[in-house]
Amino acid sequence: MKKSPTFACSACGSAVVRWAGRCPHCGAMNTIAQVSQAEAAMVAKGEGQQAAAQTLTLEGLDAANGPEVPRLITGMGELDRVLGGGLAAGGVVLIGGEPGIGKSTLLAQVCGAVGRQGSVLYATAEESTQQVRARFARLDASSAGVQLAATGDALALAGVIRSGVHLLVVVDSIQLLSLTGIEGEAGGVAQCRACAAILVEAAKRAGTALLIVGHVTKDGGLAGPRLLEHLVDTVLSFEGDRYQDLRVLRAVKNRYGSTNEIGLFRMGGQGLEEVADPGGLYIKDRDAAVPGSCVVPVIEGNRCLLVEVQALVNPTEYPQPVRRVSGIDSNRVAMVLAVLSRRLRLPLGTADVFVNVTGGARIQEPAADLAVALAVASAWREVAVPPDLVAVGEVGLGGELRPTTRYDLRAAEARRLGFQRLVGPGPGQGRGRLVVTSVAAAVEGVFG
Ligand code: TYD
Ligand code: MG
Repeated sequence: MKKSPTFACSACGSAVVRWAGRCPHCGAMNTIAQVSQAEAAMVAKGEGQQAAAQTLTLEGLDAANGPEVPRLITGMGELDRVLGGGLAAGGVVLIGGEPGIGKSTLLAQVCGAVGRQGSVLYATAEESTQQVRARFARLDASSAGVQLAATGDALALAGVIRSGVHLLVVVDSIQLLSLTGIEGEAGGVAQCRACAAILVEAAKRAGTALLIVGHVTKDGGLAGPRLLEHLVDTVLSFEGDRYQDLRVLRAVKNRYGSTNEIGLFRMGGQGLEEVADPGGLYIKDRDAAVPGSCVVPVIEGNRCLLVEVQALVNPTEYPQPVRRVSGIDSNRVAMVLAVLSRRLRLPLGTADVFVNVTGGARIQEPAADLAVALAVASAWREVAVPPDLVAVGEVGLGGELRPTTRYDLRAAEARRLGFQRLVGPGPGQGRGRLVVTSVAAAVEGVFG
């Protein structure tokens, strides 16, 4: 029998008969290593490859070769958009959020809407069917196709899903399901994973859309959901301040669409209302005459929202001045304060500083740095920022301003909502634009 090569190069993959310091095929150094006899034989003869290749279908990119997954349009526009055009048949969506944020409310409304098109199952392990029925009635979501089940039995639910009679199945929540034979209690890692796995498998087989609720703890840990993310197609996060009425639905992962879209809702007496024109939502109660307030147009998904940053600066009574920040990254605020101290000589070292984003909004963009700087400068000077001015720009440690993305969209939205002036590093000139390249120039330009 011919001796098979028992060495291979890790750089080019070539098989070689004996070890060498340098690969005779690609010339790489120290890449030759021993391989097992079985592997060497497969590499040398191409064993089994031809037969295996026969089983694979290769497809082109044109649409005829890959039909779109059918979609179920829920009729709630904000949700459909976040999903990337409705629920995909056989698609599994995990929706996470803190207790009380409105997940059950949202899903009851979705069931009500889809229940007008066909059969829908709302399975709850948290409440009795009477309670759920009452919620549907209150939300005016009691449509003909909706069926209810109160159970924590994942096996039974998987069986119902697999029967394929429902367009959509909602499971509220994964933390209360269990499977016999799996160790641990409901809500534990093993149970959550096993229950999700069998529901997902059933949904894929039946081509049924499946929406699974997962509770998230206050500190942001997706207690169950984090470990389920890889099992599902889409992960949505339902966020907001429980004490405010605005709710944001965000796609964290989406195999059927972009993660750039957000959906906006308002929690009212009749459940969740979609917010069609969110641009000025967060600034509707703003008092522009008070020093320490600056508006910034932030980008959320593909939309622009105007958000108010407030600051309060007060001489400190403590050895260590107080810094309190909410709604925005405190590290970025600390950096902006350091720049103001160092580059503009603002004596913040002896002052307590509070920075707050109003309306329960959360800013995640460095583009809001300049608004933080202007709000703090305004508070310190006790001079209000002009009421028709917005600021956009990322602040660097040298006090320089960096341009941000979507400048034109921000400018257009600010103008649409009545703001005549935009201060920031650009790009571009234009009516009402004050182009500045440093924080110092911005403060000078705004306050004189
Ligand atoms: P819920 O959907 O039960 O939250 P989750 O399922 O995420 O735990 O909603 C809880 C809150 O929503 C509850 O405090 C009451 C409020 N709510 C309204 O304000 N309006 C309504 O129409 C409904 C049904 C609930
Ligand atoms: Mg609930």
